[in-house]
Amino acid sequence: MLKDFNEKVDRRNTNCFKWDKLHEKYGKEDVISMWIADMEFRAPEKVIASIVERAKHGIYGYTFRDDKYYNTISEWMKKRHDWNIENDWIVFSPGIVPALSFCVSCFTNVGDGIIVPSPAYPPFFNAVKDQGRIVVESCLKYEGTRYSIDFNGLNRSVKLMNLEMEKNETEKKVKMIFLCNPHNPTGRVWTKDELCRIGEFCLENDILIVSDDIHSDIVYEENQYTPIASICKEFEDITITCISPGKTFSMTGLATSSIIIPNIELRKTFTKMVESYELDGGNVFGMVASTAAYEHGEEWLIQLLKYLETNRNYMLDYFETNIKEIKPIKPEGTYLVWLDCSGLGLSGAELMDFFVSKAGIAVNPGISFGEHSDQFVRMNIGCTFEQLESALSTLEYSVRNL
Ligand SMILES: Cc1ncc(COP(=O)(O)O)c(C=O)c1O
Repeated sequence: MLKDFNEKVDRRNTNCFKWDKLHEKYGKEDVISMWIADMEFRAPEKVIASIVERAKHGIYGYTFRDDKYYNTISEWMKKRHDWNIENDWIVFSPGIVPALSFCVSCFTNVGDGIIVPSPAYPPFFNAVKDQGRIVVESCLKYEGTRYSIDFNGLNRSVKLMNLEMEKNETEKKVKMIFLCNPHNPTGRVWTKDELCRIGEFCLENDILIVSDDIHSDIVYEENQYTPIASICKEFEDITITCISPGKTFSMTGLATSSIIIPNIELRKTFTKMVESYELDGGNVFGMVASTAAYEHGEEWLIQLLKYLETNRNYMLDYFETNIKEIKPIKPEGTYLVWLDCSGLGLSGAELMDFFVSKAGIAVNPGISFGEHSDQFVRMNIGCTFEQLESALSTLEYSVRNL
């Protein structure tokens, strides 16, 4: 059955951040909300039905995840991403952001360096700094239309930081990298070649890879997502891969994600941390919804990808034809678009004021993704075509009247 992604769903008054926090975040209610990374589409019917069915039971006591829960995840990874994983490798986490913090705390010490290629999803910086670790600056290379990894810069930053730490006769080192594949906010889906170079660099420098692959199911046709750990046994041994049905199936609020850790020693340490905070229980609705999504959601996802690709192509054409002052970085994956607004000649603060007060569109400010990004904003196009059309036409009008 074809899903109607054009259906308009009113999300206000559901305690959703995207629409119910507009006033608090942007000082205005009457704007088109295109910020935080969740979609305007209802989850697949089978997911909704699984929750309704479970809700009808009426008792929501302590619950465990059964074999089916794990089987659906490993079958999904095999079918969609050609990666054979064992059920035992999967550790539950009530979200990927908490898992990043657990990784920092399990596998690094105060004062150690963690590489955060930037621009980056803002919680990456917090996970490092909040626990007294040091962010190793490593900027992605912006080549006008696309981002790539600056391997020379990366090498230089790591060597410099390690030397500095040795000079101070500390035991500190650069110990971890936060990879994001597909990348939020630039939309890059790293190629196998790029991932091989990252993996080899990490092997040489004794760096653990934490790969946040939450957007891995949202990849457009001409691109191919590769889990870095699937490339070879050596990478598998030093990688922790974070996935979730949240972004894929409109269920971010169910806080149910999987941390895939093939290396048994790393897995034991990580599991102990999750268990020590009693966070391994999860919630009953997340469990049934995840199982239903991975078991029955593939056809829905295929339709979603077509819809999002139409949105993406329309948006790219629209900027190219009508708003040349703003350059979108073509997303290879994710429903997030990184907009280079330097052509408008505004400061970061003026740019946000322009988007919110003049154009009436709530977007994420570039500066929150890294200090070099104040000329950018991030726009979420995981919405109805009608919403996207209306946002782009009001944006065009506002640019003309700037
Ligand atoms: C790269 C990335 N990681 C993690 C998250 C959030 O993950 P979770 O809700 O599972 O904590 C997001 C949400 O926008 C994201 O873009």
